Amino acid sequence: MKKSTEGLLEKVVSLAKRRGFIFPGSEIYGGLANSWDYGPLGTELKNNIKQLWWKRFVQSRDDMVGIDAALIMNPKVWEASGHLKNFSDPLVECRKCHSRWRVDALHESQNFQKDGSMSCPRTDCREPLDLSKTRQFNLMFKTNLGPVESPESVVYFRPETAQAMFVQFKNILDTTRKQLPFGIAQVGKAFRNEITPGNFIYRTREFEQMEIEYFIRGEEWEKHFEYWLGEMKQWLKEIGVSKNLAFVEIPEGERAHYSKRTVDIEYKYPFGQKELYGLAYRGDFDLQNHMKSSGQSLEYTDPHTGEKFVPHVIEPTWGVDRSILVILLESYHEEESRVVLKLPHKLAPFKAAVFPLLANKPELVGLARKIYDDLRQKFYVAWDDRGNIGKRYYSQDEIGTPYCITVDFDSLEKNDVTVRDRDTMKQERVSITKLEEYLAKKFY
Ligand code: GAP
Repeated sequence: MKKSTEGLLEKVVSLAKRRGFIFPGSEIYGGLANSWDYGPLGTELKNNIKQLWWKRFVQSRDDMVGIDAALIMNPKVWEASGHLKNFSDPLVECRKCHSRWRVDALHESQNFQKDGSMSCPRTDCREPLDLSKTRQFNLMFKTNLGPVESPESVVYFRPETAQAMFVQFKNILDTTRKQLPFGIAQVGKAFRNEITPGNFIYRTREFEQMEIEYFIRGEEWEKHFEYWLGEMKQWLKEIGVSKNLAFVEIPEGERAHYSKRTVDIEYKYPFGQKELYGLAYRGDFDLQNHMKSSGQSLEYTDPHTGEKFVPHVIEPTWGVDRSILVILLESYHEEESRVVLKLPHKLAPFKAAVFPLLANKPELVGLARKIYDDLRQKFYVAWDDRGNIGKRYYSQDEIGTPYCITVDFDSLEKNDVTVRDRDTMKQERVSITKLEEYLAKKFY
C-alpha cells in the first residue's frame, strides 16, 4: 500500500519532539535557528545507526581501520584541500529586505507573483525580486584559537571528516601495515556555515558524517567505484530504506572541486528529491596536495615490488542526520488504531518493553521487575506500568519498540509471559527462562 506523504514531515517532527527523539536546540531561550538536540530516544537511534555502520564497514572487514580525529585542524589543511578557496555556495541578496539565499534554494522556493515574476521568499517581504549579483560565499566555520583574536589565530571547524584520513595516512600506514586496497573510516561532526539551512535535520550547520577514504591503485578506480556503490545499496537495505531512492550521476561542472566522478544517492523527501549520501572518486587530489603543501611524503610502497606511488581514493560518504530523517520518514506508519514506527529491529531505541498487567498487584510487579532487570543486562529495555495495556502498546508502537512483554496472573503459575510483536500485533506465550534467547534470535 502506498503511504500518503501529506503532512508527513510535520508528523515526524511532532512525534520526534513529543517522544524525545529530537528537540529544537536551546528551546527555553527561544531556540537557535536550525539547531536540533537529540533526546534520549534519538540518541539511542543515532548510536545504533553509527554502531551498525562501524560494525559493518570497519570491524567486520580486514581491509579497514578507523580513526577519531580532532575537529579543528591546522588551517594549512584547508588551504591544501582547496576548501578555503573553493568550498562555497552561490549567494544572492534581496535588495529590499537584505535576506540572503542560496541560488538553488531561491529557485526551489517557487514564490511567483501573478505576472510570473518571482518574489522574495521571506514571508515579511514578498517584494518582487530585485537581487544583488551572485557571489560565492565560503561555508567554512571560523573561530580563533587561544586568547588573542588575530588573523594568525584563525582556525576552522572541519567541514568534512575526510581530511584527517589523508593527513594521517602515513601514520596509519606505518602503524597498521595495511596494504592496498584498504580504507580508513571516521564518524564525527562536521560544520558548515550553510546559507539556507532547513527542512528539520536535512540541512543544518552542525551535523555528523560517517566517511570512508578507500585507497586504491589509480588504474583500478572504476572497479572499486562500482563495488562501493553496491555496498551503499546494501547499507540502505539494512536500514530499511528501499523505496523513494534515486542514483544520480553528477555531471562535470557540478561536482565538488576534488571529484572526478560522483554519484549522489538521493531520496524523495516530502520537500523534494535531494541528496542523502554521496560516492566520489577523488583521484589522488588530496594526498598530492598535502604532499606538496606539507613537504612530507605520502607515498605508498608496494611491499612485493617496491614500487612507490601516491594512491587514489574512492570516497563513500553518509550523513548520520539525513539517515535518521529518512529512517523516520520510511518507518512512520499510520494504521487504523495506532501510529507505528516500523524501525528495523537493530535500530529501535528499545528492543522490548516489560509491563506488569496490573500496577497495583505486587506479585505481578515483582516478577515483571525481575524480568526487566535481567533483560536490561543484555538489551536496552523499557518499563511501563501506567494506564491499561492498550495504551502501553500504543505508546511503544509510536517509538518503534519491536516487542512488548506482559506479566499476568498465568505467569505466576506457568512461569511464562505474553510477547506481542509490534508489526504483526500477534501474541505468543514464551517461557521466562527462554526469554533472553527468544529476543537474541530476533535481533542477531
Ligand atoms: N567528504 C565529502 C563530503 O563531505 P558532502 O556531499 O559535502 O561530501 C557528505 O557531504 C554527506 O554529509 C552528505 O551526503 C550528507 O549526507 C551530509 N551533509 C552534508 N551537508 C550537510 C548539512 N548541512 N546538514 C546535514 N547533513 C549534511
